[in-house]
Amino acid sequence: MAIVVVVGTQWGDEAKGRVTDLLAREADFVVRYQGGNNAGHTVIVGEEEFKLHLIPSGILYPGKCCIMAAGTVIDPLFLADELEGLEKRGIDVSGYRVSGNAHVVMPYHRLLDRLEEERRGRDKIGTTCRGIGPAYVDKAARCGIRMYDLFDARRLRSRLERVLTDKNALLTGVYNHPALSVDGVLEEIAPALPKIRPYVADTASLLSQAAAERRNILFEGAQGTFLDLDYGTYPFITSSHPTAGGACLGTGIGPSQIDRVMGVTKAYTTRVGAGAFPTELNDEVGDRIREKGHEYGTTTGRPRRCGWLDGVLLRSAVMINGLDAIAVTRLDILDELDRIKICVRYQVNGREIDFFPADVEALPDCQPIYEEMPGWQEDTSGARTYEELPLNARRYLEKIGELCGAQVAVVCVGPRRHEAIVLDTMFSSAEKPA
Ligand code: IMP
Repeated sequence: MAIVVVVGTQWGDEAKGRVTDLLAREADFVVRYQGGNNAGHTVIVGEEEFKLHLIPSGILYPGKCCIMAAGTVIDPLFLADELEGLEKRGIDVSGYRVSGNAHVVMPYHRLLDRLEEERRGRDKIGTTCRGIGPAYVDKAARCGIRMYDLFDARRLRSRLERVLTDKNALLTGVYNHPALSVDGVLEEIAPALPKIRPYVADTASLLSQAAAERRNILFEGAQGTFLDLDYGTYPFITSSHPTAGGACLGTGIGPSQIDRVMGVTKAYTTRVGAGAFPTELNDEVGDRIREKGHEYGTTTGRPRRCGWLDGVLLRSAVMINGLDAIAVTRLDILDELDRIKICVRYQVNGREIDFFPADVEALPDCQPIYEEMPGWQEDTSGARTYEELPLNARRYLEKIGELCGAQVAVVCVGPRRHEAIVLDTMFSSAEKPA
C-alpha cells in the first residue's frame, strides 16, 4: 500500500490523464492537489471519450474516492456542470469530494483574467482565461472565498462586500468596466450551490486517515513542471505548484508519507501559450506531429506548439520532482518519422549546459544540441510488451532513460486504456514490508 505522485515533466498536456487512468486502477483514492478547470484530461473508456477538467479521471472507475484537495481552485458553476454531465452519462459520482478549504473561482476572477490578458496585449501570458490566476492572487492576498464560505450566507455576503469594493475599484478605474454588484454575483453562482454542497468535505482528514490505514493513494498533478510558479518559465506559467512538492502542500500529507513519484513525458514536446521553447519545430515535422497527435488544447482548442523531446527539460524535471520513474506517452505519434532528434544539452554563450538555466530569461538564447536517431517506421500501437516494440523504438526509450536518469516504467502507444506497456505500476514496487 502506498502513496504515489504523478506529475507532468514538461509544459502540461503530457497525457497525464492517460497515465493516471492506468495507475488509478490500483488506487483507492485519486486526488488532485492544485490548479482548477484550466486543466483538461481526455480518457477513452471502451468507445466512449471523456474530457474532464476538474474531477479526477479516477471517477471513471466505480468505487474510488476522488478528491479535489485544498490546493485546488474550484469554479462552482463549472463543477456543477461537470458533475451533472458525468451523471447523465451514467457515471457514479458518489465517491467525489472537494475540500471545504479549496478557494473558489468567482465570476469576477474569470472576468479579470480576460481583461488582464487583453490589457497585456502582445505581452499576454496566453492563459486559459478560466480565472485561475486571479483566484490564486486573492488566496495569497488573503481576500479569497473558500468552499466552506459558500454555504454560510452571512459570511459569504460580508466577504463579498469587502472584496467587491476592491474589485470594483480595479474594474472601473483600470479596466473601464462596469462595477459588479454583490447581489448579481450571488445570483450567478446560486444555481450551482445545492448541486455541489453534498460533496464538500474535510479532505485533509480523509486523506490522513487513508494514509494511516496504508490505502493506495494517487496524487495527480495538473499542468506540468515548467508551468510551476517557482520552477517554471516565469512569467509564462500557471499560478500553482504542479511539481511533486505541491502534492504535500495541496493535500495536507507530509513529505515522508510519499513513497514514489512518477513523471510523465510525451515522446516529443508541446507547449500552449507564450514563452520560450528551445526545441520547437516551426516546420513540416512540427506540423506532422501536431496533426497526427491532434495537438489542440482540451480546454481552449488552441493549436499546441510542437517540438523534439528536450532531454535538458526532462533531466531538470527529474531533479525538481525527485522522480523515481517516467512514463513516456504518445510514442506512436512518432511511428512514421525516418529520423528523430532528441536534445541532449543546450549551448548558451559558448558553454554547454545539462540543466535548465537558473535564470530562465537565458532560455531564448539556449541552442539545443541534438542527437539524431533512426526512426522505426512501424506501427507500435499493437505492442503490449516492451519486447514487442521495434528495436529503434526501444533504443529511443533507452536513450530517454539514460539522458534523464530515471527508469521508463510505462510506455503509451495509443489513446485507449489497453494501448500501453506497463513495466511498473509504482504501487506494487512501493510496497513496504508490514
Ligand atoms: P492559466 O493556468 O490559465 O493561468 O494559464 C497560464 C499558463 O499555463 C498558460 O500558458 C496556459 O496555456 C498554461 N496552462 C494552464 N493549464 C494548462 C494545461 O492544463 N495544459 C497546458 N498548459 C496549461
